[in-house]
Amino acid sequence: MKTSVTNMKKSCGNLFAAITALAVLAWGIGCGQSREEQATAPPPAQQEAEKVRPRKLESARVTENTRQTYQWYCAQCHGAEGKGDGVNAKFLTVPPRDHTKVAYLETRTDAQLFDAIKFGGLAVGRAPCMPAWGHTLDDDAIRSLVQYIRELCQCEAL
Ligand code: HEC
Repeated sequence: MKTSVTNMKKSCGNLFAAITALAVLAWGIGCGQSREEQATAPPPAQQEAEKVRPRKLESARVTENTRQTYQWYCAQCHGAEGKGDGVNAKFLTVPPRDHTKVAYLETRTDAQLFDAIKFGGLAVGRAPCMPAWGHTLDDDAIRSLVQYIRELCQCEAL
């Protein structure tokens, strides 16, 4: 009896390792594309992005819900404090952005950040390993995430 339980644990462990390896592999492939390939890929998201360009996002507010959303969906890659050091960061070919980095974020508009979150990295000429969240989060949630990133970097939009 004892041995069979041990065996089961062992095989589940192996299965888990295999799934993890596959997931890592999948991300690797997704992020392994060269910049050229990305540029020539037809980006339907881009056209849609042009239509939905919120200008000023000051009206969006950061709530407890925003912080939780960030921890739930973004922290695995961007880190709990947004420093780009989440647990998945080392498996990505392109490092997740450090959301506390003023020098970079000052060069981006709120609309660019919004598009990156809603439509994914490709929509703003960035890596596809930044996923699109438009099917998961509504526009208000995304606007408040943009504001939250501004809070993390303590910086203003371009
Ligand atoms: C699977 C990992 C992963 C997750 C999860 C993730 N991101 Fe990213 N994100 C990235 C990577 C990688 C980049 C860098 C892309 C690049 O520089 O080409 C990035 C870049 C960004 C950028 C900057 C885009 C730019 O203009 O350079 C923003 C903003 C961003 N992420 C917000 C978020 C938010 C908000 C969430 C949660 C809703 C999130 N990300 C979840 C991987 C991730």
